Amino acid sequence: MTAAETPPPIRYEAIAPSLPDGPIDLTTLVPGDGPIELDVGFGRGRSLIDRARQRVSRVIGIEIKAKWSFKVEERRAREELHNARAIRGDARELLGRAGPDGCVRRAFVHFPDPWWKKRHAKRMVVSESFLDTLARLIGPGGELYVQTDVEERAAEYEALLTDHPGFAPPGGDGFRVATNPFDALSNREARAAEDGLPVYRLLARRVGH
Ligand SMILES: C[S@@+](CC[C@H](N)C(=O)[O-])C[C@H]1O[C@@H](n2cnc3c(N)ncnc32)[C@H](O)[C@@H]1O
Repeated sequence: MTAAETPPPIRYEAIAPSLPDGPIDLTTLVPGDGPIELDVGFGRGRSLIDRARQRVSRVIGIEIKAKWSFKVEERRAREELHNARAIRGDARELLGRAGPDGCVRRAFVHFPDPWWKKRHAKRMVVSESFLDTLARLIGPGGELYVQTDVEERAAEYEALLTDHPGFAPPGGDGFRVATNPFDALSNREARAAEDGLPVYRLLARRVGH
């Protein structure tokens, strides 16, 4: 192929699956009436696709990167996983204007916040205000599952959950769980397993109103 024949780069920004401005009704984004699950920052999308294949829920994924949101939504459609949808957006902004309150059964946040530098603090996904948003959206008895390969981050998330009145440990043993109870691995999780690296996992139950 000559330089003249090289195709122009794909502008994923223009074709990413986005939502219009204004309020978002999560119950209408995916057809059916199964419980709604969120996959926040799904990246290359393995967790979203795996979970959707189980056909136990309606899975709504939100990913800030245009390229991955496009590719995962394309794959989801190709596999005819009508119980899922991949959307491009900043989960903090998008879920901030989503409702109705209490409509979500479970939220997955797989390996967020890989940044170390202080100047990246504003990018952090899991924060007190994001937990407020999730507590508003997750109905009583619903779950939040967070996992990371950064030990310090896991400790930070655990402290945030401990301090948050909307979440409690699922059993008597605290938020930590040894294995992923959902049998749907994220890409980063699969790589950690291949490389024999530790993963720190937290499961929280939504309590209160
Ligand atoms: C370390 S990667 C993990 C990807 C995937 N969850 C996994 O476990 O393989 C973090 C992902 O979160 C996405 N992300 C970061 N901030 C986000 C935000 N505010 N809203 C949505 N996605 C975000 C990144 O683009 C990236 O794909």
